[in-house]
Amino acid sequence: MKKLWGGRFQKTAEEWVDDFGASIHFDKQLVEEDIEGSLAHVTMLGKCGILTNEETEQIKAGLQTLLEKAKKNELEFSVQYEDIHLNIEKQLIDLIGPVGGKLHTGRSRNDQVATDVHLHLRNQVIEILDAIKSLQAALVKQAEQHVETIIPGYTHLQRAQPVSFAHHLLAYFWMLERDYQRMQESYKRINISPLGAGALAGTTFPIDREYTAELLGFDSVYNNSLDAVSDRDYILEFLSNSSILMMHLSRFCEELILWSSSEFNFVEIDDTFATGSSIMPQKKNPDMAELIRGKTGRVYGALFGLLTVMKGTPLAYNKDFQEDKEGMFDVVKTVKGSLQIFAGMIDTLKVKTEVLEKTVKADFSNATELADYLATKGMPFREAHEVVGKLVLTCIQKGIYLLGLTIDEYKQASELFEEDIYEVLQPKTVVARRNSLGGTGFEQVNIALNKAKEALGN
Ligand code: ARG
Repeated sequence: MKKLWGGRFQKTAEEWVDDFGASIHFDKQLVEEDIEGSLAHVTMLGKCGILTNEETEQIKAGLQTLLEKAKKNELEFSVQYEDIHLNIEKQLIDLIGPVGGKLHTGRSRNDQVATDVHLHLRNQVIEILDAIKSLQAALVKQAEQHVETIIPGYTHLQRAQPVSFAHHLLAYFWMLERDYQRMQESYKRINISPLGAGALAGTTFPIDREYTAELLGFDSVYNNSLDAVSDRDYILEFLSNSSILMMHLSRFCEELILWSSSEFNFVEIDDTFATGSSIMPQKKNPDMAELIRGKTGRVYGALFGLLTVMKGTPLAYNKDFQEDKEGMFDVVKTVKGSLQIFAGMIDTLKVKTEVLEKTVKADFSNATELADYLATKGMPFREAHEVVGKLVLTCIQKGIYLLGLTIDEYKQASELFEEDIYEVLQPKTVVARRNSLGGTGFEQVNIALNKAKEALGN
């Protein structure tokens, strides 16, 4: 079978070699972007007088027919034509005759593939931005219900200080807000047109790159043709932003997994986002959370894969770059799916407020409060820390918590203690009093909730 580029060849590769080199198996996903790019290119060729009006109109009509078929999933691709670009060109020629062969005037597959991917990623990033917002909205909705629900706050996974559950949820809201900003900010580096860079050096035809950029809705054009065909930074940036986003989701997954265990028992994941065991009838597994945590690994893998593909490649285009697509497609699918599942999981999450109420009373996470109490009354904090440390030790030895000590025991430890400590030690008081800017105090959490809603545009 003769190749579209077969002129200088005397022999043809065997089918299995062609198969190894082909990208049609996966770049067929770019079919619509490929045709849209070609439509802009041929429109420009007509406008610049490089093709006649008649040729231009014939090619455009042919491409429109192919686009409609593509949208209906009616196009069939063949590995013989290697990639989406040559498959479409072949079908165009079959459809409208030899004039179809004029489409590729002043263009190379190198600027063509780059154009397709820029168009594709631009659209996917817009969808991902929407999905981030939906998850943020689900977090705000839950947070609104749980400003006064108190959970243990941890450092080193040891109980540290109690916090508002809304405060904990909003921590993830702000991580996602940064993810959103990063994705949005990267958009301007995705939305640049490489079209017209040719194979690497530009072209002898009097093309108008700014015109094709405008037709395709790009904000600008690459300034350098070598850079245009060999830049994959924008994909790396997308993979990197996706990796950070997935890392955030993965951390949250870990918490949901811990919290839904009998050891913690803070939340229940809805039946619709959990699964059973084929052998142990009692089990309800947080599979979706575990899967998202697991999928984070493959997203990192795609980032490191492409970084490694790129590192030793000379200017300009190299076939290695064909390896940029599968990881990117996979990450788009993974990130979109994970965000969607996560939003559903948060939306339906049941918070076990009765359990939490008991839980936060059964620990020493109010100890800092006691030290602050003494410090407020003038005792140097370091000394107060020591006094309270000893009281904690007494409690541990007696098998009780700080609220269980008598006022006499407190007075013995320090004359500064008064009856009001029993109020001070209540988890609600402990949380409420952390009213510094950005803290967990209820007042602050309500302010933060409003800020979050503002960020969401509500
Ligand atoms: N399938 C190729 C890719 O994905 C398209 C560009 C091919 N260019 C070339 N000179 N072989 O990168």
